[in-house]
Amino acid sequence: VDTTRELLLSRIRDVRDYPKPGVVFKDITPLLADPRAFGALTDALADLCVKHGATKVVGLEARGFILAAPVAIRAGLGFIPVRKAGKLPGATLSQAYELEYGTAEIEVHAEDLNAGDRVMVIDDVLATGGTAEASLELIRRAGAEVAGVAVLMELGFLDGRAKLQPSLAGAPLEALITV
Ligand code: PRP
Ligand code: MG
Repeated sequence: VDTTRELLLSRIRDVRDYPKPGVVFKDITPLLADPRAFGALTDALADLCVKHGATKVVGLEARGFILAAPVAIRAGLGFIPVRKAGKLPGATLSQAYELEYGTAEIEVHAEDLNAGDRVMVIDDVLATGGTAEASLELIRRAGAEVAGVAVLMELGFLDGRAKLQPSLAGAPLEALITV
């Protein structure tokens, strides 16, 4: 498990001053380009889905999609996309959330999540926790249960974990790496 962590860490690149001066961007593209690392990440997240009794996997557009789709296949579960507003053609539930400047909105097809579903939310990064928090609202409003949130990386200094705590309502927040 520790070797998995080290493999994953070694494939995440720090990009200084992106997207703006003073910010260090965590770039996961080297990890995605390495099938051994991407496979290990997929296995680790799929194990968490099984461990926490998930029946569906939600991926958060856009980077969350890249991780959640193979995880869903590996875990033998359905993949449900949570998209940025305006992209889903059917009847949707929408949830607004706060960004550094202004607000954003995410949506899910209402028919994709139902009572009796236990949903694992997958994303690449937990930063302020706003995106994950909004996704948990969507899941609960759809009548489904939250199995947990699993991310590759938690940015500990932004304390998204504390922000997410009330919406988790006892469900686990799993981070493979904390930086
Ligand atoms: C990034 C990242 C997470 C989110 C974390 O997504 O992929 O989804 O921010 O931030 P938060 O915890 O403060 O909400 P973003 O919407 O920037 O871009 P993406 O479409 O490339 O995933
Ligand atoms: Mg994202």
